[in-house]
Amino acid sequence: MEALRVEDLSINFGGVKAVNNVSFSVEVGKRLAIIGPNGAGKTTLFNLINGQLSPTAGRILFFDQDVTDLPTHRRAHLGQARAFQLISLLQNLTVLENTLLTLHGTKPHRFKMFRQIRDFKEVFGQAVDELKKVGLWEKRDELVQNLSYGEQRRLEIYLGLCMQPKLLLLDEPSAGSTKEECTDIIGIIKNLESDITVLIVDHDMDMVFGLAERIIVLHYGEIIADGTPEEVQTDQRVREIYMGVEECIDYASDR
Ligand SMILES: Nc1ncnc2c1ncn2[C@@H]1O[C@H](COP(=O)(O)OP(=O)(O)O)[C@@H](O)[C@H]1O
Ligand SMILES: [Mg+2]
Repeated sequence: MEALRVEDLSINFGGVKAVNNVSFSVEVGKRLAIIGPNGAGKTTLFNLINGQLSPTAGRILFFDQDVTDLPTHRRAHLGQARAFQLISLLQNLTVLENTLLTLHGTKPHRFKMFRQIRDFKEVFGQAVDELKKVGLWEKRDELVQNLSYGEQRRLEIYLGLCMQPKLLLLDEPSAGSTKEECTDIIGIIKNLESDITVLIVDHDMDMVFGLAERIIVLHYGEIIADGTPEEVQTDQRVREIYMGVEECIDYASDR
């Protein structure tokens, strides 16, 4: 079964074809990496998939449902989650408060304007479990802004998972992380339930080659290669057009 299908998707910013006639589909539970040089259109593609941008042309099917015109929050309710650049964490609140808010948001009464303390009591036990699982229970009263970058990433990914997503979009989870933190993140993603479909954008080739069963290479908004890591690594067009891949592969083998 297909988790996601993108058909002839395009978006222009002024004269720039940021995403140009992109088509692909992903089966449920697959780990797909999308790579390409800066400005290739990777983040824009994610913005289209989760509804932060509307395409100029094309459509997006999520579990066979056309979601092209749905706003982001509706896609979230259908099971899309996105963890990226830490914008989903509330920096001035504690780890525990962030966790309670997220868990509370997964309950049906989530749109109530003023929340009662007892509403949070319902999810407190679950929050304790989640934080212990992530190894952040000791940091529960710490403001998120005081956590290390890696801890913030870990919290963010786990909070994304609390939403019980069917599709997880990860935009550069390794950015700003140490090598150990990257290994941590790779471990988290590897241990995800096998029916969660993951799309991951990253420059870290350990991350990409360690996780992806399939890689799509974007270049100036277009797909120039789509295949297994081995196929992409040896693809002549990738080597010619996207020289960075070779550098990155060398870089990966150095680590
Ligand atoms: N909101 C925007 N307005 C105008 N141009 C944009 C916008 N977002 C992205 N772009 C342009 O679209 C192209 C793709 O950007 P982006 O998707 O961020 O690339 P990547 O994530 O692969 O580095 C770039 O040329 C970028 O400058
Ligand atoms: Mg980007």
